[in-house]
Amino acid sequence: MNTPLLLQLCVSTLHFIFCALSKVCNWTAGSSKAAKSAVSSLERKVSQGTVRDAATPTSVNYHFTRKCNYKCGFCFHTAKTSFVLPLEEAERGLKLLKESGMEKINFSGGEPFLHDKGDFLGKLVQYCKVDLQLPSVSIVSNGSMIKEKWFQKYGDYLDILAISCDSFDEATNQLIGRAQGRKSHIDNLYKIRNWCKQYKVAFKINSVINTFNSDEDMTEHIVELNPVRWKVFQCLLIDGENAGETALREAERFVISDEQFQDFLNRHSSVSCLVPESNEKMRNSYLILDEYMRFLDCRQGRKDPSKSILDVGVKEAICFSGFDEKMFLKRGGKYVWSKADMKLEW
Ligand SMILES: C[S@@+](CC[C@H](N)C(=O)[O-])C[C@H]1O[C@@H](n2cnc3c(N)ncnc32)[C@H](O)[C@@H]1O
Ligand code: SF4
Repeated sequence: MNTPLLLQLCVSTLHFIFCALSKVCNWTAGSSKAAKSAVSSLERKVSQGTVRDAATPTSVNYHFTRKCNYKCGFCFHTAKTSFVLPLEEAERGLKLLKESGMEKINFSGGEPFLHDKGDFLGKLVQYCKVDLQLPSVSIVSNGSMIKEKWFQKYGDYLDILAISCDSFDEATNQLIGRAQGRKSHIDNLYKIRNWCKQYKVAFKINSVINTFNSDEDMTEHIVELNPVRWKVFQCLLIDGENAGETALREAERFVISDEQFQDFLNRHSSVSCLVPESNEKMRNSYLILDEYMRFLDCRQGRKDPSKSILDVGVKEAICFSGFDEKMFLKRGGKYVWSKADMKLEW
């Protein structure tokens, strides 16, 4: 292992230990001198900025609801609760994040357009763009609940809309569960792409590569749809969500090998907007907030929640997020994310 990487790991580990200990220990009584000096040294590093960046919530994914109208068999964020924060509380949390350095917010779920017929989401999008002046506001959705009226009301405040589509074969979408009834997921995808153009929102596509679609060639459709980014995920297992006894989904039968994933990427090497995310790149490179505004730590292969930022603030909660900023940067997490800065052909 090279020295800077090792150092970074040590500092991150110390930072984590410091956060954990400061939560459970009484430092004034009985703590050893050595431990105190290690913490002071770490605090010095934090104040000098050496580790401060690792705890800055630059880009946050807020899964404000777990409810969904689809039944994707591999889903790793399932309807374990039906809780959604009151709007004012969600806004308070978003303000705290902005004050801690957030530049980009992504709203996800569950299906984010489901709650309050998309109005809760629209109000948060507007709040983040107008009140908080965030450079980037985005949404990931299955697209099935979006109406043109939503674009008319809130489109101005949205930078990027990502729609998930795992196959251009309707039968495969049905097999995966990426559908509601017999409605065409693909027709809907094209319709939303056109609204994005009309209402000046950057259009993105997310695909999860799994056993049902790994042999497909999606090049033609992707080129025609022309998204600003095409995120291609390797199907990921998360204990308690889509694997293990307490999970609501059993995604083992969807999992593909690294070789199968690489084959899919090779087949689509001509698609310039493709951004691949292997399991390794994906696992800890997202700052995820759940419906209670708790950071979810995926380092143990499951989603371990921190305390809510609404109760303990961002600084304390983020210590338990398991966020790997290096991997965030390696996967290209920082990119041109304001629509004002994109060279889009509208
Ligand atoms: C949990 S979904 C929530 C938003 C919305 N319902 C949707 O499907 O786009 C967020 C993203 O995670 C992806 N996803 C879900 N389960 C996954 C898994 N097991 N591995 C990789 N990506 C997954 C979805 O395809 C989607 O792009
Ligand atoms: S991945 Fe599928 S089931 Fe999961 S939240 Fe998105 S649309 Fe719903």
